[in-house]
Amino acid sequence: MDEQAKPPRPQVFALPNGPYYYFTDFTPQPIQGLRGEGGQTYASAKGTALCRCGASENKPFCDGSHGAIHFNDRKETDGRQDRRKNYNAGRITIHDNRGICSHSAICINSLPGVFDPDKRPWINPQGATAQEIMATVRLCPSGALSYSLDGVEYRDYDREPLITVSKDGPYQLVGGISVAGFESRAEQVSNEHSTLCRCGSSRNKPFCDGNHGEIGFKDPPETEQG
Ligand code: SF4
Ligand code: FES
Repeated sequence: MDEQAKPPRPQVFALPNGPYYYFTDFTPQPIQGLRGEGGQTYASAKGTALCRCGASENKPFCDGSHGAIHFNDRKETDGRQDRRKNYNAGRITIHDNRGICSHSAICINSLPGVFDPDKRPWINPQGATAQEIMATVRLCPSGALSYSLDGVEYRDYDREPLITVSKDGPYQLVGGISVAGFESRAEQVSNEHSTLCRCGSSRNKPFCDGNHGEIGFKDPPETEQG
């Protein structure tokens, strides 16, 4: 299908001190059972409010608990980590933004010779072939890692838009779902994928910074994801 024929990509809007509003259809649809006094009908885009404070009793949906806990979505980072560092070896350059790593450890487990948090620098681009590095970087869910080959940054993922509610962890966005409603910083996100805080404790909201592991965020058994 040609790009112009595709429907608009869904969008996530981070409401101030409230949930993510996940717009899935921008075409206003009439709302059944809602009328003005003069008989006029109302129409609205379609979407869902997803909890990002961690307190909802009906996860992943927002149930209004953010108000009761006085959820605050301010960033607590100074932005210094929200920048990419580059690690080059021959044809390949690995880009790394520590500020948005969700600490899935996929990179460390997949290529320990390249990604080793006990070493400084923690990335050794000479530790594997370019092909191996590219394959691993493509698995990074948060967009913290990306790469360029021969100076051309790889951004051509072609996945369908999807948000996965990861068990005891963040929302994983793929497929070019844009995120709006936050203080943007240069080079912060991949255009194609990102991980968004769902526990309410990230210091770099709306992005996951891995803090769900430190606070022991758990989905209640009845809402566990299969
Ligand atoms: S989010 Fe990316 S950079 Fe962070 S641990 Fe996972 S794979 Fe590595
Ligand atoms: S964001 Fe509304 S209940 Fe968590």
